[in-house]
Amino acid sequence: MTTVPHHIAIVMDGNGRWATKRFLPRVAGHKKGVDSLRACVRQCGERGVKVLTVFAFSSENWSRPPEEVSGLMELLAVALSREVPHLKAEGVRIHFVGDRSALSEKVRAGLLQAEAATAGNTHLLFNICFNYGGRWDIAQAAARLAERGEPITERSLDAAMSLSHVPDPDLVIRTGGEQRISNFLLWQAAYSELYFSDKLWPDFDAAALDEAIADFARRERRFGRTSEQLQPATAKKAA
Ligand code: IPE
Ligand code: IPE
Ligand code: MG
Repeated sequence: MTTVPHHIAIVMDGNGRWATKRFLPRVAGHKKGVDSLRACVRQCGERGVKVLTVFAFSSENWSRPPEEVSGLMELLAVALSREVPHLKAEGVRIHFVGDRSALSEKVRAGLLQAEAATAGNTHLLFNICFNYGGRWDIAQAAARLAERGEPITERSLDAAMSLSHVPDPDLVIRTGGEQRISNFLLWQAAYSELYFSDKLWPDFDAAALDEAIADFARRERRFGRTSEQLQPATAKKAA
């Protein structure tokens, strides 16, 4: 029996390098990254993953050259309008995660439309983190509680966080060779298994995703307990 992660989160890194290696503009790498993502969403659904969360644009990515930032905004709008009918037909529910207030009217409308069009779907929940940062998420959750005059506890913060509609990610994958979290799910990844791939995101194919899932199946998740404590529970479950 293989253990398929219920929730996979991915830092889709390496688009720029993929393009630069080919003497192409960086935005060409992001476009290629959309192809990779389309295949990844489909494959996750096929493998029985129930939640996929991707990091598409970080709070810090505003610091990139203006033409790259506008290219990414445009790409999000275009990709959504092109892909939503297919995702809808495949049972994928889209959920946007991030600070919408800084996004253009056009992008915001595209996100709302994508969420509304796929709201009834249950095969795979697809969270798109765009203008997202882990610190932003913790701060907005705390601000919300303070505004309501509610006590700040682990449980209340967790419920106010932007991914409170799904369980924490079981597996966090980062492509592109860097071994850092870059302000992705700081709160939610507390007990996620981390998997780093040297493949650039546009090259992260079906075999690479299957290898990450297989690697996850070999991990022992202890959540603070000892290995020995886990054995009886496993035996009981198997009996
Ligand atoms: C990740 O690819 C996508 C975004 C951050 C939008 P990069 O654009 O960071 O690619 P590299 O790391 O420069 O290769
Ligand atoms: C993380 O990648 C953000 C996304 C993939 C959207 P970056 O390329 O922005 O991260 P750093 O700058 O290398 O840490
Ligand atoms: Mg990068």
